[in-house]
Amino acid sequence: MKILAIETSCDETGLAIVEATGNLKSPKFKILKNLVASQIKIHQPFGGVVPNLAKREHQKNLPILFKKILDSRFKIRDASLIAVTVGPGLEPALWAGITFAEELSKKNKIPLVGVNHLEGHLYSFLLPQKTANSKSPSFTKVSEGKQILDIFPAIALIVSGGHTILLLVKDLKTWRRLGETRDDAVGEAFDKVARLLELPYPGGPEIEKLAQIGNPKSIDFPRPMIHDKNFDFSFSGLKTSVLYYLKNQNLLNPRPKTLVANIAASFQQAATEVLVKKTLKAANAFGAKSVLLSGGVAANKKLRKDLKHEALKMGMEFFVADQKYNTDNAVMIAAAGYMSHLRKKKYPLKANGNLEI
Ligand code: KG4
Ligand code: ZN
Repeated sequence: MKILAIETSCDETGLAIVEATGNLKSPKFKILKNLVASQIKIHQPFGGVVPNLAKREHQKNLPILFKKILDSRFKIRDASLIAVTVGPGLEPALWAGITFAEELSKKNKIPLVGVNHLEGHLYSFLLPQKTANSKSPSFTKVSEGKQILDIFPAIALIVSGGHTILLLVKDLKTWRRLGETRDDAVGEAFDKVARLLELPYPGGPEIEKLAQIGNPKSIDFPRPMIHDKNFDFSFSGLKTSVLYYLKNQNLLNPRPKTLVANIAASFQQAATEVLVKKTLKAANAFGAKSVLLSGGVAANKKLRKDLKHEALKMGMEFFVADQKYNTDNAVMIAAAGYMSHLRKKKYPLKANGNLEI
């Protein structure tokens, strides 16, 4: 079936058309179209996302993207399902997408399914791969004509601007939360540290860029909760250590670029080490066959590389979507919409800022 998906949970307006086939054990996706209108420039002067501004921009962008996505090869009537993010996220922003999707669904008599944004991230590893960062999970032939994914149990690490979650995934519809952050999400920590370093929003990609020219061993920032027995995380202390470090340096303006790069590299090193160590600890504890990485912070090359390296070293497989499907997009929402459809999972068509996975 062809799925039209809509994503407006934060500061990216996403619209995509994805062709989905297969059952709950062997879903397959073909990306037909993917449009993302970023609002970064609009929120940048405020140093973060302003919910009502985001809503207004989504309302403006949605009809423009919709017009762009329709062409001679795709008419709205070709869609058998519309999928829209209902949470978690900024509620005013979510409502913009939900209202638009409801109108489309009613007018064209196409069923509408609500999608959990975090499931979008989780399922993103199922999307076809174009680059060699990882590989697509392969299907094992069980008997004539039957194919299943043989990668479970898996440990999933979801790292975004709002979440840092470890899941034990039994199959494509069953999982259990093992741990999460007790304070800031790791993406939020990247953004806050970037702000301390006077880098523009969003901070993750800026820190990553600067870290390339810095020395990751130059400053020994703490690795919060790295040796704890549980699978929870904490990142606000790490951010505070960066703040104290800056204060102690009594830095003058302009700050020397090498020092800022060393801070970025050392912070990235500390955050990555905690994520990798705890994910692998969970994978060992539960006898995982694979590690799944997703969410905006999964776009970080060092995290992808280090987690992959450690997972492979321990004989596990590693899956992560192509970089452009880590940060918010509607392709992953189409995939999760298809999975909701197969699972007969019905999320209320109401914005839920705190929806959990
Ligand atoms: O998943 P996402 O696009 O939106 C949410 O669902 O929150 O994640 C956005 C977060 C931001 O905090 C951003 O700074 C971070 O992902 N991020 C990165 C990178 N690219 C985006 N963090 C580290 N390195 C990156 N390359
Ligand atoms: Zn996200």
